[in-house]
Amino acid sequence: MSLSVEQSASWNDDGFVVLPGFVSTGQISTLTDRIGELIAAFTLSPGAATTIFSTTEQTHAQDEYFLTSGGTIRPFFEDGAFDTEGNLQVPMDRALNKLGHAMHDLDPIFDGFSRTPELATLATDLGFVDPLLLQSMVIFKPPHIGGEVICHCDHTFLWTEPQTVAGFWFALDDATVDNGCLWVTPGGHHQPARTRFRIDGTGTTTDVIDPVPYEMDGLVPVEVEAGTLIAFSGLLPHWSAPNTSDDSRLAYTLHMIDGTADYLEDNWLQRGPDLPLRGFG
Ligand code: FE2
Repeated sequence: MSLSVEQSASWNDDGFVVLPGFVSTGQISTLTDRIGELIAAFTLSPGAATTIFSTTEQTHAQDEYFLTSGGTIRPFFEDGAFDTEGNLQVPMDRALNKLGHAMHDLDPIFDGFSRTPELATLATDLGFVDPLLLQSMVIFKPPHIGGEVICHCDHTFLWTEPQTVAGFWFALDDATVDNGCLWVTPGGHHQPARTRFRIDGTGTTTDVIDPVPYEMDGLVPVEVEAGTLIAFSGLLPHWSAPNTSDDSRLAYTLHMIDGTADYLEDNWLQRGPDLPLRGFG
């Protein structure tokens, strides 16, 4: 077991567990350096330059660029990053919303970081029988331009029957209320998902299961130091505010599902047969 009695209770009762110091300073430097290399290697085509990622409006969801990104490493940008002609308004590292969504399979550095014995043990402790690493992202949340992420649960986007998805959120910077840390609703994972986002024809749709929006009053901030891992249930409502500070709020996230459950064919994230999902092996 890698979790204390208190940490296991937090996972079961609250739907999340906070593990300070899970990532070493050296690992943070390695990832940060690699992120810099990946950014430097991107060249923006005019098409990509006008693809602006918005989690508030979800207009990106109609874009093939997003729907075909499950087996790639691809940049997504914040609203306001470009002018109307597609010119960056700020330096690249201040314009990015995220990289996604197969860092853990396509990049050797992120592969190694995502497949450690410590994380495999944690997955077992959290109840995974056949953990499969489904989705990874580098989330930038840059100062001043990094926008809100609306309150949601990840089961909405990565649906298995039964629900098995869990998120692993690695803080690569200190995360505070000012720079847009995670906010969660403790215990909110005991309720079912209220929406389901899925493929519908060539686009996407959101099925409304319960029209009542999540209670914003129940959210509490989870301020953590760099190196902390926050693991949370796919049913846990979470939200983050815009980054209004001068500090970056870099994070790496990994989403895991259990191979014993059915991953639905109309989930937005689909990977072809040339890139099958893998666990820790
Ligand atoms: Fe999320």
